[in-house]
Amino acid sequence: MFDATPALRSAAQAAPAHPPAAALARSRVDLVIAGARGQVGTALRAQLARRQAWLREHEGLDLRVVAAFDRRLLALDLDGLGDVLEDAGLAREAGDGERLLDALCKPRRGPCVLVDCTASEEIADWYPRLLGAGVGVVAANKRANARDFAHYRQLQALARFGAAPYRYETTVGAAIPVLGPLRDLRLRGERIESLRGVLSGSLSHVLHRLHEGLAFSAAVAEARALGLTEPDPFEDLAARDLSRKLLVLAREAGFALEATALRIEPLCDAPQDGESPEAALAAADADWHARVAGAKSRGERLVVLAEADAAGGRIGVRSLPQDSPFARLAPGENRIEVRTEWQSRAPLALGGPGAGAEITAAGLVSDILQAARELAPRRPSVRQ
Ligand SMILES: NC(=O)c1ccc[n+]([C@@H]2O[C@H](COP(=O)([O-])OP(=O)(O)OC[C@H]3O[C@@H](n4cnc5c(N)ncnc54)[C@H](OP(=O)(O)O)[C@@H]3O)[C@@H](O)[C@H]2O)c1
Repeated sequence: MFDATPALRSAAQAAPAHPPAAALARSRVDLVIAGARGQVGTALRAQLARRQAWLREHEGLDLRVVAAFDRRLLALDLDGLGDVLEDAGLAREAGDGERLLDALCKPRRGPCVLVDCTASEEIADWYPRLLGAGVGVVAANKRANARDFAHYRQLQALARFGAAPYRYETTVGAAIPVLGPLRDLRLRGERIESLRGVLSGSLSHVLHRLHEGLAFSAAVAEARALGLTEPDPFEDLAARDLSRKLLVLAREAGFALEATALRIEPLCDAPQDGESPEAALAAADADWHARVAGAKSRGERLVVLAEADAAGGRIGVRSLPQDSPFARLAPGENRIEVRTEWQSRAPLALGGPGAGAEITAAGLVSDILQAARELAPRRPSVRQ
């Protein structure tokens, strides 16, 4: 154990965190993980630890997790942290966050990427400074891109200005590549007209289980226990998290939408004063039972569909024929359809598992590798 606070202070004042020897500086990229002991953060640290030696040997990339923290603990080792954060960590103190941010934004620092595995506004507040200082940001956290459109545009501009990679592919569809393909369509000059999708792995899991006969409250509790919902499941049920995904997706498609342009039908009212979350969920059981029975009697399935075009967005429960591709999705799966000026009859369709700590961490590893390659010119690859 060591006292992280003096180490942070000296890191903010002292020489660059690692030596500028050309070969080392070109290939080494430091990683700082926010939310390091959450579900995604834990899976990410394990995946990086397993991949580290291979990447060093075959891709010439020396990825080192030099700092990892959550709201309670801060672990710091400029040579690279081991597996057990508690060995190198101390209780996070007031001001540690700012000191870490100062250290990361220090001029002439070596290549560095902050990986945001939180759902925190506080960490999202850091992005403008980091990107402006040339520090890469890889985010599973949707908060920053779901703020007002001007902020979204500012982050893109800062990333360009600071020559800093800014990647957030996992914020929509977990590890399904969605945002990259949208960007490619626009780069090649193909105008996107509309998109629609089942984008919430947690909500599609819940609706699937309702069709299997589970009560609404039990289906939500199960999704929470499986780690499929946000830390607060009412975020999912009010479609707040889904509306952030839709905003990010719509903006990447070129629609300059604000949150106020989305019409949202919540799946369940939030607990009233003094009401427990369990009671609020149970109060919705009878209504959901009737809705599912109605859909079944018509030979249909209920899905939560998110749709957007240049005029606005909509999120709500739709009853679709059983053979619709959206109705046939397995629990937890996402599907996104993109209509463009040249692909309007048969839309571009992307799909796969839309939630889960391991696949989200795998998506983050992809983003980290692309960010690291942008920051550290790649050495010749050796095939295994
Ligand atoms: N799980 C999935 O399937 C999935 C899929 C796609 C995207 N995501 C996104 O990934 C992010 C993390 O999800 P998760 O499931 O891993 O959530 P989680 O298990 O609740 O972990 C969240 C982590 O963030 C930390 N944290 C919160 N506020 C912080 C702050 N101000 N400073 C530092 N750390 C802070 C928490 O630390 P404390 O314990 O100290 O509060 C915790 O370690 C979310 O944005 C989520 O939307 C998740």
